[in-house]
Amino acid sequence: MARITASVYTSHVPAIGAALDHGRTHEPYWQKVFSGYEFSRHWMRENPPDVIFLVYNDHANAFSLEIIPTFAIGTAAEFAVADEGWGPRPVPKVIGHPELAAHIAQSVIQDDFDLTIVNKMDVDHGLTVPLSLLCGQPQAWPCPVIPFAVNVVQYPVPSGRRCFQLGQAIRRAVESYDDPLQVQIWGTGGMSHQLQGPRAGLINREWDQRFLDRLIAEPAALAQLPHIEYVREAGSEGIELVMWLIARGAMNDVDRGAPPRVVHRFYHVPASNTAVGHLILENAG
Ligand code: DHB
Ligand code: FE
Repeated sequence: MARITASVYTSHVPAIGAALDHGRTHEPYWQKVFSGYEFSRHWMRENPPDVIFLVYNDHANAFSLEIIPTFAIGTAAEFAVADEGWGPRPVPKVIGHPELAAHIAQSVIQDDFDLTIVNKMDVDHGLTVPLSLLCGQPQAWPCPVIPFAVNVVQYPVPSGRRCFQLGQAIRRAVESYDDPLQVQIWGTGGMSHQLQGPRAGLINREWDQRFLDRLIAEPAALAQLPHIEYVREAGSEGIELVMWLIARGAMNDVDRGAPPRVVHRFYHVPASNTAVGHLILENAG
């Protein structure tokens, strides 16, 4: 049977992708950000997954106001890198895993979650920046990736509680797949940031650190936070953090078993307009 080996959490700030693509990672401003991912790139090489299930949000690139899926699973064999206005990032295309994606869609939909099945989708910085941060600048990404897009852009967006429950359903789906694949689940976006309106530039370090503490130690209670708390405390784009609860909900201890090992934790302000947070949790045993 397939199993989830670890969950990875990281911000997806688009300027990080631009810094990598334009060779600016050694500038002091960016060095501070990238220093938090050196361990992670080493860890990825030491613990290569067979598949990454990557939870992220599209930023009006693949979708628009015409169609707004709450949860969309990418079932294609490959996904092109989106042109977000200045040409696609010079990174490899994303190879999917249609068989596992179709199995997860089947299992999760039968388990009462309504997913949109997407057979063609370009992937934007929400997905490619986390891959760059953890995998560097390879000719090809190290393994297939199943893109899982969550609407956190246009209200109504899903609750943290729903996301946490969905993570549990994804774990049940993975564990009922016959091939013994090692699957990582990534939750991306966040941390506190607001890109618009009078509060643009908002960062809340204390709230972010507490979110990380609670994500590790008491995720079920954290999942009860209402939207308004994210928006008030972490800014309008801080709502991206509900996606971290999908990844956390897929970890063993939520159902049974020992708490995950915290193998890496990093927090830094600023990167562009955003507080950068990053965690790696490994399932015990
Ligand atoms: C920024 C952060 C985001 O999450 C995003 O999607 C776009 C921009 C920023 O900090 O600039
Ligand atoms: Fe974003």
